[in-house]
Order: sequence, then C-alpha cells, then structure tokens
Amino acid sequence: MTGSFWLPDGASTLSSEIDSLFHFVNWASIILFVGVVVAIAYLAYRYRRRPGGPAPMRVKPNKMVEISWVVLPTILVLIVFNWGFRLFVEQSVAPPNAYEVYVRGAMWKWDFEYPTGAVTTNELHVPVDRPVRLVMSSADVLHSFFVPAFRVKQDVLPKRYSAVWFEATRVDTFQVFCTEYCGMGHSVMLASVITHSQGDFEAWLASAGVDEDTPLPELGAQLYQQQACIGCHTLDGTEIIGPTFAGLYGKTETLDDGSTVVVDDDYLRESIVDPNAKIVQGYANVPMPAGYTGLSERQLSALIAFIREQQ
Ligand code: CUA
Repeated sequence: MTGSFWLPDGASTLSSEIDSLFHFVNWASIILFVGVVVAIAYLAYRYRRRPGGPAPMRVKPNKMVEISWVVLPTILVLIVFNWGFRLFVEQSVAPPNAYEVYVRGAMWKWDFEYPTGAVTTNELHVPVDRPVRLVMSSADVLHSFFVPAFRVKQDVLPKRYSAVWFEATRVDTFQVFCTEYCGMGHSVMLASVITHSQGDFEAWLASAGVDEDTPLPELGAQLYQQQACIGCHTLDGTEIIGPTFAGLYGKTETLDDGSTVVVDDDYLRESIVDPNAKIVQGYANVPMPAGYTGLSERQLSALIAFIREQQ
C-alpha cells in the first residue's frame, strides 16, 4: 500500500483493493491504447499507397478475428464490472458496528459532531482499526468530502443525508478536501482526519466537551481560525474580501448608503448574524457563510471580544 503519482499512501482497509482495481483499469487502458495506436501507425505505413502499385485486394472477413474482438473486450469489462461492483457494495454499506459521526459542510468549513455531543471544526478525530461512518449534510450549497488517503469521496448535499465509511489502519493525520466548487472559499475548505488508538481516542473524546473555562478573547481567537473568518478578514490590516479586524473596533465606518456607524459590540453582533443589514462602503455585498447564524451567544461574545483586542 504505497503512494503513487496519483494518490498518497493508502491508510484504510479498502484502499489497497481500490488501488489494485484502479491500476488494473489504468494499465489495461494504457496497453490497449498504445497497442491500437502502434498498430494503426504501422499498418498505415506498411500498406500505404505507392505510385504504380497494384490496386488493393478486397479484404475477406476473418470469423476468428471478429469473434475475438467481441469476446475478449467483453471478458475484460466483465472483470472490471465484477471487481468494481463488489468493491462498490463493500464501500457503500458500513459494517453494523461502525462509529457514527455527523458531518456538516458549510461555506467554508466542516463541523463534526460526535455521539457524546462534542463538536469539532475542521478536525475529525477517529479511532483506528474501527469502522467509522460519516453521516453528512450541508448547511448551504453542494460540497464534497474527500479523504485521498482513505480513498473515500462523497458529495455533501443540503436537505439530504449522504454517508461514507472507512476504517483507518494507522495513527496519523490525513488531509480532507472539499471537491465540489462551492464559492470563493472552496480552496480553503480543508480539514484533517486525526486518527488515534482506541484508548487515546476515548481520552480525547472525554476532553472534547464544551470548555466553559476558556476566556472569551481566547475562545474568539480559536473561533476565528475554526470558523474560517480568516478567509475574508485579516488581522494585519490587509484588505481582502471583508474589512480587516485590525483597528476595526471603535472606528467609524461609512456605509454604502452614505451613513456612518461606529463599530461597537452591537454593530459587530449584527454584522455576524445579519451580515446584509449594513454594508461598508467599498465592499461587495458578499454573504457571510450560513453556518454563522448557528453560533451560540457565548461564541458571538467571544468573537466580539477577540475583535475588540485587534488594535
Ligand atoms: Cu465546499 Cu468546495
């Protein structure tokens, strides 16, 4: 199970068989393609028309040749069908003892909710050597959940659940991509799968409850990363998609209708939960990701406290 030009090292129970099928289809295609192209080139040259040469003879069909080019490709596609279908079924149906995690994709982040109620953002923690089933849905548009090392990829849809399962085979950190174009932040809609031994996973899960003791600005700093605010709002004064947070608090902003507003707690709160209410002059009315309406009061306060500190 080693990586190749195409994919990283496999790290799930199904990845080696999926790789074998992939390489079989890939090499069969390459061999057939090269064989056909070389034969065409050779025959076209060998039997090219020459001045003064005899008129070509009429070619009589050869039964054996005709039968073989029907039967052999049929056998080939049946092998691929049988192999692929078996794997497809294996990959579609999670084992009954699978550990279930709910996944919610939103512009532009991934939330993971565990059976204990713990929630993580952009970090999926799972045990190794145990099947894990992900039940997925989207808060807004189409996304797609892709873990190359596990060879799983599945669209994530609004108003509908889709599922994937995998069983990780080693303790490591694996990259997750969104592979369905979902707007400006698509390319930064990344996450990691962090695999633990069973004991470590239980310890992690026990520690993953909501931490009420974190000071607000610190929690805000975590949320700034987790909720991907960083994609549109910088901390160093650079203006990208939305206003920078540097020196924002207390500043007087001019809105697109010419009125002004002082940036205070109320304004910040409104801008997070109802971003269209006031648009600062010079910025496009880019909707904030829908997931932000789900922030708790404590999380909102934490973000505001964090922005207040960026002076
Ligand atoms: Cu989510 Cu692309």
